[in-house]
Amino acid sequence: MNGLQILGTGRALPAHRVTNDDLAQRVDTNHEWIVARTGIHERRFAQGETLTQLTVQAARQALERAGLTVADIGLCITATVTPDYLTPSQACLIHQELGLPEDCPAFDLSAGCTGFLYAMETAAAMLPRMSRPYALLVGGELLSRIVDMDDRSTCILFGDGAGAAVVKTDPEAPWFCHLGTRGRQEVLWALGPGNHPAYLHMDGQEVFQFALETVPALARQLLDKAGLDKDQVDWYVPHQANHRIVASVAKRLKVPLEKFYENIASYGNTSAGTIPIALDEMVEQGLLKDGQWVMCLGFGAGLTWGGALFRWKSMEER
Ligand code: COA
Repeated sequence: MNGLQILGTGRALPAHRVTNDDLAQRVDTNHEWIVARTGIHERRFAQGETLTQLTVQAARQALERAGLTVADIGLCITATVTPDYLTPSQACLIHQELGLPEDCPAFDLSAGCTGFLYAMETAAAMLPRMSRPYALLVGGELLSRIVDMDDRSTCILFGDGAGAAVVKTDPEAPWFCHLGTRGRQEVLWALGPGNHPAYLHMDGQEVFQFALETVPALARQLLDKAGLDKDQVDWYVPHQANHRIVASVAKRLKVPLEKFYENIASYGNTSAGTIPIALDEMVEQGLLKDGQWVMCLGFGAGLTWGGALFRWKSMEER
C-alpha cells in the first residue's frame, strides 16, 4: 500500500487558559495532586470559539506550510467526537469555510482519542483512488462541551484544541500502521443527544491499564513490521492522556523518556487533537529532521488503539 508523507502541519488552541488552581475553586482537588497523577498544569477551554474556527485555522496553517492551496486537496477527513453539528459533518463545515473542490470528499471519523491515526490510515488507503494526491486531515475537539465540570476525576484531564496535517500519497514512502478495536462501551463513554447531559464518563484505572497493555505491544508490532529496533526510532509521539502512562510505556519499551514528545502540561488531553498538535509543535521547534523515523501511538474510547511508523521528509527534500 502507498505510504503517506506529511507536507505541512497546523494547530489552533482556544485563548482561554484554565489552570489547576482554577479547577480547584470548583471541585475538591489541588494543583499538586493533578500534576503528580497526570502531569497536567493547565488546559484551554473555548470561550466562544467554535470547533469550526479552530479546525479551519489549523487547516489553513497546514496548507500554507505545505505550500498548497485548497484546489490541490482531493480528500478531507476530520477526526472528532465533539463536532459543531450532528450533521453536516465537521469535515463538511471545513469544506465550506475553506472552499474545497466539489470532487474532494469530506467526512468525519469517530475513533475517540485514536481518531487521527484512523484518519491517517484511511487517507493512506483512499488517496491513491482520489482525483488529487493530497489530503487534509484534521483532529480536534471541544471536550469542554461534554466534560462534567463537577466530576473531579474527568474535568481535570481534558482540554480543547485542534491540529491538522496536509499529507501526500507516495508509493515510495515507508508506512507501517496498525489499528485495533475492542468494543467496550462501558469504559469510556458519552451519551448522544437526549434528555441526559452528554457528559463523558470514564473508568480511569481501566483506561490506564488498557493503555499499558496495548500501547507497548502496538509499538513492538510496528517495529516488527518495519524490521526496526526500538532505538532506531528517533521520535515517539504518544497520545497525550497522562504523563504517567507515557512514562510507563517508555519504561516498558526500555526507550529513554526524552524520545517521547510531551506537551500534556500545557493542554491536557485534547483527544483526536493531541497527535497533530504535537507534530505541529515539533515542526515549529525544528525537532523533526529529514530521514528520522517517527512513531505515533494512540489509544482511547471504543476501546480503540492505533499507531503509525513513518520516515520524516523535510520540506527541502520534497
Ligand atoms: N483530585 C484529587 N483527588 C482525586 C481527583 C482529583 N482530581 N480525582 C480522583 N481523586 C481521588 C479519588 O477519589 C480517590 O480517592 P479515594 O482513594 O479516597 O477513593 C483517589 O484520588 C485515587 O483515585 P484513583 O482513581 O485511584 O487515581 P488514579 O491514580 O487512577 O488517577 C486518573 C486517576 C483519572 C488521573 C487516572 O486513572 C488516569 O489518568 N487514567 C487514564 C484516563 C485517561 O487517560 N483517559 C482518557 C483516555 S484517551
